[in-house]
Amino acid sequence: MSGFLSNKIHRRLLVAVPAMLLTVSVAFAQQSPQRPANTDDDAAAAVQKPAGASAAPAGGNRAGGRMTSAEATRAFLGLGVAPDAAAAERGKPIYAQNCAGCHGPDARGGIGPNLLYSSQVLDDDHGEKLVPFLKVGRPDKGMPPFAGTPDRDLTDVAEFLHLQVENYANRGTYQNNNNVLVGNAKAGAAYFAKNCVQCHSVTGDLKGVGGRIRPLDLQRAMIFPPREDHPKRAIRATVTTAAGTVEGVVTRIDDFVVVLTQDDGTVRPFARGEGVTVALKDPLAWHKDFAFRLKDKDMTDLVTYLGGLK
Ligand code: HEC
Ligand code: HEC
Repeated sequence: MSGFLSNKIHRRLLVAVPAMLLTVSVAFAQQSPQRPANTDDDAAAAVQKPAGASAAPAGGNRAGGRMTSAEATRAFLGLGVAPDAAAAERGKPIYAQNCAGCHGPDARGGIGPNLLYSSQVLDDDHGEKLVPFLKVGRPDKGMPPFAGTPDRDLTDVAEFLHLQVENYANRGTYQNNNNVLVGNAKAGAAYFAKNCVQCHSVTGDLKGVGGRIRPLDLQRAMIFPPREDHPKRAIRATVTTAAGTVEGVVTRIDDFVVVLTQDDGTVRPFARGEGVTVALKDPLAWHKDFAFRLKDKDMTDLVTYLGGLK
């Protein structure tokens, strides 16, 4: 199987540097230590974004116990901290009035791009990056500046966008409904045959999967296979320099440095720059992309089909 960057991300890489940051941030979020819960709402504290901090220790994406599934999902998709629901609610009408005309009412795109995949959005936690961007816009490309809009309003818009991403990507976890086996198993089987057999088999790796994984967990495992406790699912990279080629698990990556841990445990830092190429390889890249294109009906049909395989 080709575990390389998904087509979409790959295409974006060819055209846009921001997409590179997206890939990098998604990759790095996997490796980042989890911030200990420090708000009233434990689940909301979730996962820390890469602050360009030090390399994370292996398996260091947990602090004080297992992640909840929502946290793990956020980590998988590199979504950063959970959005502030009250701010998002305030941001909704501001978005509708100022942005929806170009980016669509649900941020899925219009004459402006889909913002659910935007690195400008995904790299942001609470507006600290997005607000400065919105202030200047990209007038030459059709994105107007919002220099006169108060920071607070723009922060609320940022939260609104984060909530849209969350709701869209997090479908496997936000519904706490135990009765998920209500779809059409036959349609699920057909969908599986068309989309999944390239990498999976119901007589091989997914044999009896319905008996092994509870339906709700199956839904999550299918949309975002958990990476923790699965060393084989780690993001790897091949770094090529004049001195040769090194391959290993990515423990840190940003614009300036990439740190690999080789299979024998050797840690190899590289300064990025001319003559240094980094090829990332995420075994779960396909699933990441899938999280955004899976339709609700197909998800239900698939879980019904796979959940029935005992
Ligand atoms: C007149 C149309 C228009 C309006 C209004 C508008 N945008 Fe945009 N926006 C665009 C276009 C076009 C682009 C793509 C610019 C480019 O190609 O670099 C863009 C780009 C963006 C991006 C960067 C996407 C990326 O990943 O490169 C973000 C984020 C964004 N807009 C958010 C907003 C928000 C939030 C608002 C409202 C406060 C808004 N926009 C209002 C047209 C618009
Ligand atoms: C391009 C390859 C690829 C495709 C296509 C793909 N997957 Fe996966 N999937 C993976 C990889 C890699 C893993 C991690 C497997 C491992 O570590 O053994 C995985 C893991 C899973 C898991 C978790 C299994 C477990 O034991 O935790 C499920 C469930 C799953 N995939 C379902 C699906 C379904 C359903 C489809 C089709 C809609 C699909 N996958 C398509 C590559 C793929």
